[in-house]
Amino acid sequence: MLPKMVYIKDFKDYLGQEVLVKGWVYNFRSSGKIAFLQLRDGSGYAQAVVNQPAVDADSWKVASDMTIESSVEVVGAVSKHPKKEEYELQVKQLKFVQCAEEYPIGKKEHGPDFLLENRHLWLRAPRQAAIQRVRTTVIMATYEFLLGEGFTKIDSPILTPNACEGTTELFEIDYFGEQKAYLSQSGQLYLEAAIASLGKVFDFGPVFRAEKSKTRRHLTEFWMMDAEMAFFDHKMSLDLQERLVEFIAKRVVEKNKADLIALERDISKLENIKAPFPRLSYIETVERLQKAGSDIKVGEDLGNDDEDLLMKDFDKPVFVEKWPAAIKAFYMKREGDLALCADMIAPEGHGEIIGGSQREDDYAELLKRIKEHKLSTDAFAWYLDTRRYGSVPHAGFGFGLERLVGLMCGVHHVRETIPFPRTINRIYP
Ligand code: 4AD
Ligand code: MG
Repeated sequence: MLPKMVYIKDFKDYLGQEVLVKGWVYNFRSSGKIAFLQLRDGSGYAQAVVNQPAVDADSWKVASDMTIESSVEVVGAVSKHPKKEEYELQVKQLKFVQCAEEYPIGKKEHGPDFLLENRHLWLRAPRQAAIQRVRTTVIMATYEFLLGEGFTKIDSPILTPNACEGTTELFEIDYFGEQKAYLSQSGQLYLEAAIASLGKVFDFGPVFRAEKSKTRRHLTEFWMMDAEMAFFDHKMSLDLQERLVEFIAKRVVEKNKADLIALERDISKLENIKAPFPRLSYIETVERLQKAGSDIKVGEDLGNDDEDLLMKDFDKPVFVEKWPAAIKAFYMKREGDLALCADMIAPEGHGEIIGGSQREDDYAELLKRIKEHKLSTDAFAWYLDTRRYGSVPHAGFGFGLERLVGLMCGVHHVRETIPFPRTINRIYP
């Protein structure tokens, strides 16, 4: 009979005992009568030592035929490194689940194109696994924080008749006959309907942007968390956003120490992410940038270079607030010519991680904006209803999960922070 199956992360509880481990051999070496297998089982990494005299002939044959990334079942006794907190397996029995063919990702340096083409295999690399564990923490911390603040999760639809952000970046779906349909760019508008039922709501899911941008911050499909709060003004929303981001950074430091070390992340950068975050007006920001040598003019959006230039002076995220309404979305509440909105810009070149605003709550104003933006009043009839039946001041924001994970991990290209990236020129694998 086989001994109990255990996970590598629990080895410390089985010191001296015989256990069964199932996993993959990510590396190995042998010399004469001894072989060292580097095992990965999804919970951790450990070395298995195969000593020829201690195993049967079949097991030794498996050790001799070993290939990188073969899947295996190993029976052995757990032992501890004399000095370090490291555990090993002294092998009694070794079996292939499947003997892997020659693995395409080797020890030599591969270019990003090769790695992306093999993303289904690249995902097994320790660095990639560490990023995905941090991503999980960011997701869970977001739920934990928002539920603690009294939010309810509202799953907004992915197929929608409305544009939410710019109409130039919409994926059109030809399915519903005469009715135009698109893939969602953000669930915001649906959350605005739900606040009248539940007060504070959020969604968290994939969104789509047919963006022609080819930068390290843009994906075609990415994950957004939208939050929307009844009776919140612009300032209350910023206060909430900075507490949320501080909380996420704190949880990542607590839960992902080993991953951050594996990623060579400077943990002090995450410990710096403490509220309050500096708040600069758009005008102040443009003036600062001009002084620093940018050719940006009032009325223009910040380019990636501008964001990086601005953030040279800051070691935590910064809000740039009150932008010219003309370059922001139709639904934003105005204060004169300015929109009551803010972008949260991250330090270290991670760019805009949050976009948010107070929303226009007046029916007539909103209708005027929809017409000005040449959007369909039919498709937006339901949205306008929210301003006809008990409209209230409200605000909300959305974060881009991949950019936030990039900030936590110190990983500069968003294609590494999502399991299977889709960009302007990539749909495979
Ligand atoms: O600033 P955005 O476009 O805002 C909205 O969609 C609002 N409706 C959100 C809301 O108020 N509920 O997008 C929000 C965030 C950005 O700050 C950025 O972090 C991320 O989503 N983002 C992208 N991330 C990766 N690839 C892209 N193409 C992105 N576009 C936006
Ligand atoms: Mg934005």
